[in-house]
Formats: sequence, C-alpha cells, structure tokens
Amino acid sequence: MSTPGTDVLPPLRQPLPPLGDAGPVPAGRQDAIVAEGLTRSFGDRRALAGVDLRAPAGSVLGLLGPNGAGKTTTVRVLTTLLRPDGGRATVAGHDVRDAPEAVRARIGLSGQYAAVDERLTARENLQLVARLYGMSRGAARRRTGELLDRFALTDAADRPSGGFSGGMRRRLDLAGALTARPSVVFLDEPTTGLDPRGRADTWQAVQDLVADGTTVLLTTQYLEEADQLADSIAVIDHGRVIANGTASELKATVGGERVTVHAAVPRTTGAVAGILASLGPYRPEVDPRTGRVSVATDHGAAALRYALAELAAAGLAVRDVSLAPPTLDDVFLALTGKPRPHGAEAGAEASEPPPARGGEPGGDGPAAGARRRSRGGKGAHAWRP
Ligand SMILES: Nc1ncnc2c1ncn2[C@@H]1O[C@H](COP(=O)(O)OP(=O)(O)O)[C@@H](O)[C@H]1O
Ligand SMILES: [Mg+2]
Repeated sequence: MSTPGTDVLPPLRQPLPPLGDAGPVPAGRQDAIVAEGLTRSFGDRRALAGVDLRAPAGSVLGLLGPNGAGKTTTVRVLTTLLRPDGGRATVAGHDVRDAPEAVRARIGLSGQYAAVDERLTARENLQLVARLYGMSRGAARRRTGELLDRFALTDAADRPSGGFSGGMRRRLDLAGALTARPSVVFLDEPTTGLDPRGRADTWQAVQDLVADGTTVLLTTQYLEEADQLADSIAVIDHGRVIANGTASELKATVGGERVTVHAAVPRTTGAVAGILASLGPYRPEVDPRTGRVSVATDHGAAALRYALAELAAAGLAVRDVSLAPPTLDDVFLALTGKPRPHGAEAGAEASEPPPARGGEPGGDGPAAGARRRSRGGKGAHAWRP
C-alpha cells in the first residue's frame, strides 16, 4: 500500500478480537454514527475545527468536500485510528475514545488508497484478512468464497492482485472491509481515480450493502456520487460541516441543474447570457477561460429546449450545449460565495466524472460570487415552464 503525502493511514485492518467477543450492540441506539464537536490539529494545522455528524442506523451518510477539507481525518477519528483533541463520537453505540476495541469489532474500513497486497492473489488477500479477524481456516475459506462471488472476483480470484484494474482493486478492498460483517462501514473516496465502469461497480456494491441494512459513511468530492448513494449529505470545508441535508435540499440551495451554452462566435457571448438570464431567477455567468455561459435552472429539459429555441430565433450559433446536475463547485459557490478550493491532488481532479456541462474547472474570477442564488428582487421572468 502506498500512502502519498501527509495522508498516511496505518495498515487498515489491524488484528481484532475474534468475532462475537465484543458483545451485542447496546440496545436503543438509533444513531450508528454520532460526532459532536470533533477537533483535531496536526501541529498548528487545524484539520478538524468542530465536526458534528449523525447517521441513523441503516442509512448512508455522504461526507462531501474538496481535498484537505478534513474527510480522511474524520474517518480516521471515527475508525479509532486517530484520537481527537476534543469533542466526542460514538460508532455503533460505542465511544471511539473509551471503547475503541468495541468500535473496531463492528466496523469495516476501505481507505482512500486501496489496501491490497499486490503480491497476493485476491483469494489470498481476503483469507489473510479473515484470519486476522480470528476466523478459523475453514471459516476464512468460506467467507472468502462468498465475498469473491459477491464482488464478481471469482474468475480473477487466483491471479496476483497487482495486475488488477483500479475498479477490481477497490472491490477487493471493499470485500476485505466486509469480512467480519460489520454493521458500520467507512468508505473514504471509494471512487476517486476509477474509470466510469469502476465507479458504477462501486456504486452498485454500496447499494447492495445498504440493502443489507449496513450503515455507511462515504466521503466523496462528487456531488453526483453523494446524490446517488447518500440518504443525507454533510458538506465539509476547513474541518467544519458547513451544510447538512438531503441531496435534494442541497441541490435546491444550488439550483436544480445547469444549462451551459458555448457560443460559436466569441463576441456573441453577451447575447447568449442575455437569453439564459430569461430562463429564471438565476444569474448566468460567463467563464472567461472557455467562453461558456451557464445558468442554474429548476426546469430541467424544458429550460434547455426553451434556451435552444430562443438562441435559434436570435440567430445565435452555438458550438455545444448541455444540461447537467450541479457539481461540488456549484455547491461551494452557493454555500460560501467563493470558488471551491482546489487541492494539489491532481489525480483526483483528473478523475472528475465526465463533466457533461462543459467542465469549467474553477469558476473563479469576479463573476463567481454572482453564481449565488439571487432569489426575489427580480422582475417577472420572460418564461414559465
Ligand atoms: N498526518 C497529518 N499531518 C499533518 N497534516 C495533516 C495530516 N493529516 C491531514 N493533515 C492536514 O489536515 C487537513 C485535512 O486533511 P484530510 O483529512 O486528509 O482532508 P481530506 O481527506 O478531506 O482531503 C489538510 O490540511 C491536511 O494537509
Ligand atoms: Mg482524504
């Protein structure tokens, strides 16, 4: 396992007490994950500045934030790999500080960098994990067989995992995290760096987990991913949760979707913006680098059709158009009025899901603040759905 930069995770699965040793989960606990005011600094760098989280048992909590926001640090605290400086947290009903063994016996972790021993085959990797969990040889063999099957790794089971694709590696890592049938599973950026196929497979694996009643906390930089998988989303920035809610609540803050138009003739960009302004209450923005004009809309495809008709009527030629859900960039702009910080982790950026809307990366510049929703105070719209 390689652990670049400061984001160093200890070996993921440490020897744990044998299954069943930890006793039952205390009764009457509704929340599988509770964090209150978690703080943690590294030297004078404040990674967590008071994180509050809550995930009801059986739900999926998405922790959404850019590089350096504090996602991995939160996961490390909740999985007892790191002690918080302050605040408290319970996982599966047990305090991470006072009862770390009890927490560890009930959780699974798939870290940001898949922890797979490349020299071992898939089967050997999983058997090793099962033995570390204290399973007998026979039980380890049986559990490994089940997991290989479940994660569609049976055909590749006896090949060295060093030759696996990113998606297969992730599935193997996830399978390992589920070895001891944990009731709470932590997935740290499970799809970062995966191709669309690998991402789809991982999403399916998470959905299967949830169907089994497992509680999942997953971190992600992709609003789309949190939207697909999470029952509720906490947006984290600078070690603090800056917004909480369901995906639809979050999207409502940002505006449902975005219509983006790339004018064929650069000097007509202003005229295009004028037409997009007539779509609704949101102010269009022009990305000076790409010349694309985009605007939020709550009317989906109807808004796109209207825009195309108006552009054609005005004789404005268009190079490309798109309608796409808001991204993390849009969320950050809406919540903070500032472009989302862009971290140094180039790999993560490169693997952003296909930006159907044209993918302007930063959205910075003076117009950025204007992307905030400007409700009310505007005149009648030219168009209604
Ligand atoms: N072991 C560490 N030593 C020093 N700084 C760290 C360490 N781990 C994390 N940090 C810093 O804490 C902040 C949050 O990091 P992290 O939790 O890894 O963010 P994320 O997972 O959201 O990208 C960053 O500024 C990061 O550089
Ligand atoms: Mg991280």
